[in-house]
Amino acid sequence: MLEQQIDGVRRRALERIQSAANADELEAARVEALGRKGFLSNASKEFGKLAPEERARAGKLLNEAKQAIETALEDRRARFDRDTLKAKLESEWIDLTLPAPGIRPGSLHPVTQVQTEIEELFISMGFTVLDGPEVETEYHNFDALNIPANHPARDTQDTFWLTNGLLLRTHTSPVQVRGMQKLGPPLRMIAPGRVFRNEEVDASHEHTFYQLEGMMIDRDVSVAHLIYFMMTLLSSIFRREVTVRLRPGFFPFVEPGFELDIQCLICGGPGCPVCKQSGWVELLPCGLVHPNVLRMSGIDPEEWNGFAFGLGLTRLAMMRYGIDDIRLLASGDLRFLNQF
Ligand code: PHE
Repeated sequence: MLEQQIDGVRRRALERIQSAANADELEAARVEALGRKGFLSNASKEFGKLAPEERARAGKLLNEAKQAIETALEDRRARFDRDTLKAKLESEWIDLTLPAPGIRPGSLHPVTQVQTEIEELFISMGFTVLDGPEVETEYHNFDALNIPANHPARDTQDTFWLTNGLLLRTHTSPVQVRGMQKLGPPLRMIAPGRVFRNEEVDASHEHTFYQLEGMMIDRDVSVAHLIYFMMTLLSSIFRREVTVRLRPGFFPFVEPGFELDIQCLICGGPGCPVCKQSGWVELLPCGLVHPNVLRMSGIDPEEWNGFAFGLGLTRLAMMRYGIDDIRLLASGDLRFLNQF
């Protein structure tokens, strides 16, 4: 009787284990079979009623059943573990052969792009690129450029004076002075860099902007040379022929001095908001180097002469890319920068 009971319990337990669909059902099957109130412990309670010789046989059967059930439980559990692992691996699978979602590289700032292009152009024409300090002496920024103290031209450059008597350079022209002193004639140099003016900020004015200074000193340099280099510069930047005009312009360090205008690239002449309806855009102050400037830097104006220009690099970049607000350039706004 007991033997049959054990056999039945064993079969039932194994069936339940086999058909358990998940870990919970398997646990329920285990409790039912092996738990303290389970079938097997119920069966062993019958032991006492058995004759001693039957007891041994039934005990053996009981142990076998218990072992078989435990083995089945373990197998089933292992299979669940394998299934769980497989499902996990499948759900976490990554296709390493898929193309990566493109890296978005940064790009050079529009002012840097224009600056680099101009540098390359002038290097190809035998010019050297020079750098100068942003914190300058009064001598380099003014005196050596023929702008003595109390000269009214100082007032037109709203200077940031530092408490130690130095200043933030108001233009890149002091690098002319440094270039002449360091390299001497003949000289072909450009000097891009940041300049500072204490101006009120609006769509076309910033307290910090970029200029690119140029200077060529040689024998018999004329305005024709100046115009040639300026036209080469502008048509290379705008990638087309440009029309320019010279107007007289006053700067103490050049004589004669000019304002070089280019015909408005937006409207082509008739007038638009960009050129303030004039058809021309002021872009390039320039001129032949004043003899005083040469002399002060140790160059004999009887033997040498030259031209100089002070390109508004920031304004040029704005024109080239059609940027209508100077404040965007230093805004750090990625929506703006991503376009270049
Ligand atoms: N330094 C002048 C300015 O910033 C520009 C300039 C440079 C004019 C060279 C003539 C020659 O206003």
